[in-house]
Amino acid sequence: MNRTISVANQKGGVGKTTTAVNLSAALARTKRKVLLIDLDSQGNATSACGVVKNQHPTLYTSLFEDVPINNLVERGKEGFSMVPGGQDLIALEVGIRDQGKQGFLTNQIKLIKDQYDFIIIDTPPNPQSAYLGSSFGLYRNHYPPSV
Ligand SMILES: Nc1ncnc2c1ncn2[C@@H]1O[C@H](COP(=O)(O)OP(=O)(O)OP(=O)(O)O)[C@@H](O)[C@H]1O
Ligand SMILES: [Mg+2]
Repeated sequence: MNRTISVANQKGGVGKTTTAVNLSAALARTKRKVLLIDLDSQGNATSACGVVKNQHPTLYTSLFEDVPINNLVERGKEGFSMVPGGQDLIALEVGIRDQGKQGFLTNQIKLIKDQYDFIIIDTPPNPQSAYLGSSFGLYRNHYPPSV
């Protein structure tokens, strides 16, 4: 089974990152292969995984330097893999739009989805976050934490 889950809510501080990180850890404990993607420029999910934020390439690098997502994957301390987030993600959405690269995120996921049982996406707190998550276009479930 392969499933992509985006955790999104436009409101800040409602537990998106906590949900994404703990869900990833819980699934990893049950022997599932898990990839957590941090799409938030705050990089809180990255830090929670024991990966230093703003010191690793993010999906921004992937977009602007044609680096495949596989090259971005780091090993988190809780037994699952992750794609780090960081400040440069602020420009990701505008970059996708300006370059006419709609579908970029979906295509990146397609490159790796067969390697994982679950891909969990932590999104930033803004009105576009649900859109950003859904732009992957491959997830089945969308769990906005209740406010
Ligand atoms: N179920 C919970 N019960 C109590 N506190 C919680 C719960 N989930 C998260 N928190 C706390 O709420 C705060 C915000 O959580 P978190 O960072 O996960 O929210 P967020 O939605 O990702 O925030 P942001 O929108 O800034 O990315 C943190 O201090 C976290 O420890
Ligand atoms: Mg968060």
